[in-house]
Amino acid sequence: MMGGRERVCVTGAGGFLASWIIKFLLLKGYHVHGTVRDPGDEKNAHLKKLDKASENLQLFQTDLLNSDGLCAAIAGCTGVFHVASPVPPADAVINSEVELMEPAVTGTRNVLDACLKTQVKKVVVVSSIGAIALNPNWPKGQVMNEDCWSDLAFCKAIKQSYCFSKTAAESEAWEYAKRSGLNVVTICPSVVIGPLLQPTMNSSSLYLLKFLQDGWEAADNGSRAFVDVRDASEATLMLYEKPEAEGRYLCSSHEIRTKDLVEKLKSMYPVYNYPKSFKEEETEVIRLSSEKLQNLGWRYRPLEDTLTAAVNNYAENGHMGKN
Ligand SMILES: NC(=O)c1ccc[n+]([C@@H]2O[C@H](COP(=O)([O-])OP(=O)(O)OC[C@H]3O[C@@H](n4cnc5c(N)ncnc54)[C@H](OP(=O)(O)O)[C@@H]3O)[C@@H](O)[C@H]2O)c1
Repeated sequence: MMGGRERVCVTGAGGFLASWIIKFLLLKGYHVHGTVRDPGDEKNAHLKKLDKASENLQLFQTDLLNSDGLCAAIAGCTGVFHVASPVPPADAVINSEVELMEPAVTGTRNVLDACLKTQVKKVVVVSSIGAIALNPNWPKGQVMNEDCWSDLAFCKAIKQSYCFSKTAAESEAWEYAKRSGLNVVTICPSVVIGPLLQPTMNSSSLYLLKFLQDGWEAADNGSRAFVDVRDASEATLMLYEKPEAEGRYLCSSHEIRTKDLVEKLKSMYPVYNYPKSFKEEETEVIRLSSEKLQNLGWRYRPLEDTLTAAVNNYAENGHMGKN
């Protein structure tokens, strides 16, 4: 499985991560079927402008809850990248059962059903660090790896409905793979940041943007883990192309406290409206291992490169002060 004229499907094509995955797939010569909910929406217009999109990218209109639509998009593909899943902003008030769980869990099952029906050879499911890191029983101080699963009851107790949805969706994917024999690999990225291809802001980019523009009196000084969108996309492709890839893969490059992140940004871009102070936190710095992915050959860029590309992209595309 090495590109050439191979046909693959990417769900949620217009999203932040999926757009980069599609860009790289097209550059490698793949024919790509992308699913979108509304092909005519301006927020998907960038896809048609990607290199080789006019010849090799075909968009299919479907929701994750529409089994026939998914089958139509996936038919004829040897591989599927299941990327679509709702990622609400941190402060969003939502009906999590309908807006998160249904598309995340039922959506994953529907995509895998469609893959089985259409005899897809391999599926890469994009999960999240949210399905790994929320585990209060993981030994304190021990580096987290793919053996660690977020605890659903804990996610619920601390009202982390997004992490709940991703944990339940990834569990669903593994149960489905076991039952059906479908070849599934999952990738669990940490907070994905970097330059946007799509015209609209997505939640994880907004998380970074807020540090540059909101000027909070006191921000929390928690520990966060980041990965560049280009590195996460390359990792996703690598998992598809390497026949030896199996199981889950944690995908994270940089763990940093928000105060250190802001200091770094300030030294690079002094002009923005940064938090004025930080609340001291008792929490430990999160420690994650992407060794399994690195052993497959994955490499990542320095955090400074990601921040530069992200901030320049926000400024050039008019996102500063707008969101
Ligand atoms: N960004 C991160 O920090 C991060 C970290 C770890 C994992 N992930 C995972 O990476 C994937 C992509 O996230 P992203 O950051 O690229 O977010 P994004 O830009 O918001 O993309 C999410 C995509 O999912 C689609 N989608 C949502 N609900 C859908 C539904 N009911 N039916 C069909 N499509 C639906 C959206 O389509 P519409 O445009 O039509 O809404 C959009 O294309 C998600 O699975 C997310 O959980 C993201």
